[in-house]
Amino acid sequence: MRVFVILPAAGIGTRMAAGSHAAAPKQFLSVGGVPVLVRSVKAFLDVPRVDAVCVAVRASERERVKAQMDEYELGARVHVVEGGDSRQESVGNALAALESHEDDIVLVHDAVRPLIDVATIERTIDAVERHGAAIVGLPAVDTIKQVERMAEGAIITSTIPRERIVLAQTPQGARVGLLRRAFAEAETDGFAGTDEASLLERAGIEVAVVPGSAKNFKITQPGDIELAEFYLQQAGAR
Ligand code: C5P
Repeated sequence: MRVFVILPAAGIGTRMAAGSHAAAPKQFLSVGGVPVLVRSVKAFLDVPRVDAVCVAVRASERERVKAQMDEYELGARVHVVEGGDSRQESVGNALAALESHEDDIVLVHDAVRPLIDVATIERTIDAVERHGAAIVGLPAVDTIKQVERMAEGAIITSTIPRERIVLAQTPQGARVGLLRRAFAEAETDGFAGTDEASLLERAGIEVAVVPGSAKNFKITQPGDIELAEFYLQQAGAR
């Protein structure tokens, strides 16, 4: 059984546009002197069980990313494929490109979550091995409300018990055969999801959850680079 990792990194980062880092998509910004994408790739290369990491990028970024992988000497385990217009399409392209067996394991990780740690990656692989599919989820600390959106703001329709809520992070993984089936069914039905679990769930595949952490956040908005650097300083990782 082999373990593959897909890093969708073909986003254009529109939510960052209002901030001070508007020049580059989030995955190419630097955190503590190292590009976000390079940090994410390295995190998975630090796990000996990972056989290959496949990065999905825009065609126009392909050469730049390859050069970056060489510069940081990330080695032969890293491959670059072309992404698509949505995260789902980017992951689908990489999944189609994997030369893998149905029983192999594939993890998908947002390239913009550079602070993922080895222990969480290992836990996710173990959970996929045991259950067939698993994701990293962060227990909710806030009280969660379901709302109906109004022209201005929203009105609460119910309160969802927070013990029953986790916030979906990545990695999200499955046996290759299961994820391919979930992607094929989503494509047939024209379903667009924002993560792999939503595709697996609708295909009737049970997905386990392993604990995540606040540190494994998605660099999304202005201030997030500074937050990531703060966490790195705390860990003495610079
Ligand atoms: O912004 P979003 O939550 O969609 O980004 C999650 C991840 O998906 C990012 O790493 C981003 O680069 C990636 N993505 C992608 N292809 C797209 C859109 C997003 O690979 N077309």
